[in-house]
Amino acid sequence: MKKLEEYVRSIPDFPEKGIIFRDVTSILQDKDGLHMAIDQMQEKLEDIDFDVVLGPESRGFIFGVPIAYNLNKPFVPVRKKGKLPCETVEIEYDLEYGSAVIEIHKDAIKPGQRVVIIDDLIATGGTIEAITKLVKQLGGEVVKIVFLMELAGLKGREKLRDFDVASVICYEGK
Ligand code: PRP
Ligand code: MG
Repeated sequence: MKKLEEYVRSIPDFPEKGIIFRDVTSILQDKDGLHMAIDQMQEKLEDIDFDVVLGPESRGFIFGVPIAYNLNKPFVPVRKKGKLPCETVEIEYDLEYGSAVIEIHKDAIKPGQRVVIIDDLIATGGTIEAITKLVKQLGGEVVKIVFLMELAGLKGREKLRDFDVASVICYEGK
């Protein structure tokens, strides 16, 4: 049986020279890869008591929704600015080059709710750090963060040191 790591296609020099792009489409387009990815991410939540799964657009949706569905929890999307129709809270965060703004519906998280964050990848950690601030602003508590892949060389975990973080596949480099 193939290991999950073997389903990840690594593309050198994409989107720019020196970067190895870890492609999730090669996992998703294989039925066994897809099952393994969802199952192994879900295993990280085995002992966690929580109310809601939250995932950032767009790759966080791919992995967050099936996990929420399987565990019979609601799913809350965090979207890139301008897509959500009702009242939101937003935050700007740094990307490798430039910045981005993401937002969440104000009523999506109730005070005291225990939140699990799901995403495909932690690189610098900037995206999820920003999301933890939005959750806090709405009175929620982040009780677990699960990534499919981690680029440990970028030290994103340092930004999330106050949280319980797990990743399924860890790459030493960037
Ligand atoms: C990618 C990836 C993570 C984030 C990780 O998303 O899916 O969400 O970057 O980077 P960070 O740890 O440095 O914040 P991206 O913003 O490229 O958008 P996408 O999910 O819509 O492809
Ligand atoms: Mg993303």
